[in-house]
Formats: sequence, C-alpha cells, structure tokens
Amino acid sequence: MPHNPQISSNPSKLHLFPDAEQASLYVAQQIAALIRQRQDQGKSAVLGLATGNTPKLVYKELVRMHQHEGLSFSNVISFNLDEYYPIIPEDKHSYTYFMQKYLFKHIDIKPYNIYIPNTDSSADRIPQYCRAYEHKISGFGGIDLQLLGIGRNGHIGFNEPGTSFHATTRLVNLHSVTREDAQNDFGSITNVPHQAISIGIHTIVQAKKILLLALGQKKSDIIYQAIKGQITTQVPASILQSLPQAEYVLDREAGAKLDEERQ
Ligand code: F6R
Repeated sequence: MPHNPQISSNPSKLHLFPDAEQASLYVAQQIAALIRQRQDQGKSAVLGLATGNTPKLVYKELVRMHQHEGLSFSNVISFNLDEYYPIIPEDKHSYTYFMQKYLFKHIDIKPYNIYIPNTDSSADRIPQYCRAYEHKISGFGGIDLQLLGIGRNGHIGFNEPGTSFHATTRLVNLHSVTREDAQNDFGSITNVPHQAISIGIHTIVQAKKILLLALGQKKSDIIYQAIKGQITTQVPASILQSLPQAEYVLDREAGAKLDEERQ
C-alpha cells in the first residue's frame, strides 16, 4: 500500500467532517475569515472559485453570512477556475450563470471584480485571452485562497488526467468521464461541450492557500488515490500532496476509504 509521508506527518492537512454541511461550513468560515482579515488590513481578498455540486453549500453559507452577519464582499476579487467552450454567459449551463445564481447576485461583490473565463469568442483569440486571464490574476498579487472540487477522474479545474503540472490557462479537451458527469445538467451527453477554458495546474499551485473540498461516496476512490497514491499527472489532484498550503476538506463518505485504513 503506498505510503504518504505528507499526510502522516502533517495530519492538519486533512479535515474530515461527519457530513457535507459541516465540511462546507468549515470552508465558508475559512473564506469569511480571510475576507474579514483583509478588510481589517484595508486590503483586497483574491478568491479562486469553483462551480459544480460541491461548493453549493459553501456559497449558501456565505450568502447567509452576508445577509445575517454583515459579511461584506466589497473587498473581494474573484477568479473562477473554468468555463465550458463555447458557451454564452447567458446560457443557463454556463458557469457565469451558476455563479450568479448561487452566489454573486445575493452578495455585494462589485461586478467589475468578478472574473470568469469568457469563452464567447473565436478560437483564434483564445490564447491571447488566456494569457490576459493569467496576467489579471498575477496583477492582483495572485490568488489568496483557491477553492477546488475534484472530478471522479482526479481533475482539478478542468485539468484532466495527463495534464502537465506546468500548464497555465488554456483551452482544454474535456475527458469522457467529465462529459458523462455533466450530462444530467445538459440533458444529454450530446449537449455537453467537448472543450472548456481552464486555469492551469501551475496557476492553481501558486495560490497562497488551497482548500480541496470533496463530498459524497462517489469521490471516495479518487480521494484515496489523490491523497495516498503517487504524485502523478494521471491524477492531477495528487499534486496537492506536495503543497504545504493545500488542505483536503472531506465529508465522511468522501473520506471513507481513508477511514477504513485507519481502523
Ligand atoms: C468546477 C471545476 C471542477 C469540479 C469537479 C467536481 O469549476 O473546476 O473541477 O470541481 O468536476 O464537480 P462536482 O462538484 O459537480 O462533483
């Protein structure tokens, strides 16, 4: 059985919670603490945000904190990880639509501080657009806190198995597992785009803090591989093992295989 010195010597990287609500609450509290700390310092907080099922409860809690606890997002600059290509922002399957629905329209983030890859442009302009996206991130001093989900194939962002750890923002081809997992949202597999723009692994690993949130039994196999297996481009999330600033936040189901080993 592969041994992972990072985890055994640094158990604080791993946060196991009894359920999805508590895991999500922890992540929301980390985000809120960073925002407030930066407010006290008169500074911006640069967040890297994810879409999909995983962060929905995190966003629900952040909205609650805004509405009931006075958490302001006026100092937040946000960069989303990815967006399907091609898609228009108004499309209800777009990640722009998702972010508005679950977070942005409920909070006081300034619209000009929201960055989501805009894929509504011709293929020849994409490389230039991706360079500009990277440039924007570094122009704000990099990402302070990156929230990640994980695909069943180990992807982070849409950095699919086989992606170089040096990759930056670019147009990517979506893996068959990723398209399969998106088919319910799109109604059928034929409607799922074949491509996306994703920030790269190189971009992600430069974030000052990284929280990978994984929920549910469907993630338990890949979480085990990502945390206990070898660091390999075949499991993109495995790179996080080598990063002191990365933490895994799991509910009991996603952490089930790790738990089995402890017993
Ligand atoms: C989404 C993203 C993806 C998802 C991953 C998990 O912006 O970058 O890596 O985090 O596919 O998706 P869910 O949360 O739907 O299981």
